[in-house]
Amino acid sequence: MIEREEMEIPERIVATEAPNEEREFEVGLRPQTLQDFVGQDDIKENLSIFIEAAKKRQEPIEHVLLYGNPGLGKTTLAHIIAHEMGSQIRVTSGPALERVGDLAAILSNLGRGDILFIDEIHRLNKTIEEILYPAMEDYALDIIVGKGPTARTLRLNLERFTLIGATTRLSLLTGPLRDRFGVTHHLNFYEDEHIGSIVKRSAYLLGTAIDPQAIDILATRSRKTPRIANRLLRRVRDFAEVRSDGQISESLCEEALKKLTVDHMGLDQTDRRILTTIIEKFGGGPVGLSTIAAATQEEVQTIEDVHEPFLIQIGFLARTPRGRVVTEHGYKHVIT
Ligand SMILES: Nc1ncnc2c1ncn2[C@@H]1O[C@H](COP(=O)(O)OP(=O)(O)OP(=O)(O)O)[C@@H](O)[C@H]1O
Ligand SMILES: [Mg+2]
Repeated sequence: MIEREEMEIPERIVATEAPNEEREFEVGLRPQTLQDFVGQDDIKENLSIFIEAAKKRQEPIEHVLLYGNPGLGKTTLAHIIAHEMGSQIRVTSGPALERVGDLAAILSNLGRGDILFIDEIHRLNKTIEEILYPAMEDYALDIIVGKGPTARTLRLNLERFTLIGATTRLSLLTGPLRDRFGVTHHLNFYEDEHIGSIVKRSAYLLGTAIDPQAIDILATRSRKTPRIANRLLRRVRDFAEVRSDGQISESLCEEALKKLTVDHMGLDQTDRRILTTIIEKFGGGPVGLSTIAAATQEEVQTIEDVHEPFLIQIGFLARTPRGRVVTEHGYKHVIT
């Protein structure tokens, strides 16, 4: 493994996945009701009607598919739906469901109206997925008993449960699985104003005093993503506690973000390196993703999941049939 320049930086501020310790921190900040869930107004409105109607009919809700970039609130929403329905929630994930028996056990233990949350549902293996089809459609479990010529299928009835699936990659979901969801919601990047409200709410929950100007700064540098907003807040709070009286002022916030190498648009070193590499080595593009990955020594997956969506969202990068291109805005940002 080659040591690279960013080795000096203690931690990747934009990393998609949250380490365990951070997960615990996140749980404390996670809104529990639709009302406390900031932004995504269309989704909230649809969900509240959908939940209200199901409750009136005293029926479980239909299966829900949530998709969107990491850290935008899919897991949070799944828990909120359970909370609002007054349902039990059982949590698992695509890669964790390895054996048919595991899924069968989970499904047969679900009660009426219970919610099964499958995170990273695009990573389910084929056999498991096929068990889910009749489970979702007919609330039935088809089990093969015996082997060879005497094998037969036994159908077990399940209680009427609700499956909530979450994915960052809708395109990797098979058609038949996608079709079995009653509703699909796409979580988009947040408005800066909403990120500001999230920062304010989190600071309040953490008991941290923060100036309005500092909230604005964090709102514009959090890559329109609640997880990153909370992560930056946490880092800046540490900084405030060590460097001053714990109050997050505008200047302290600026200084902390500078230390974290987060620039005024929320870009980190890797984002900037991706842009400069395309400009300097490939004349601004178009250039293929795997070439960019090789030239920047980043993983294709990381660029595709973490960096590219945000750079495209803010108009610094464009995707063309022939590859990625740095836009004029992107040029202006790095060439200064
Ligand atoms: N709309 C929101 N309002 C307030 N806080 C939010 C909102 N959405 C997300 N958060 C905060 O951001 C954190 C990350 O959200 P969450 O874990 O739900 O993201 P995710 O979409 O499931 O990400 P991943 O794809 O990595 O699983 C949550 O712990 C929560 O504190
Ligand atoms: Mg999640």
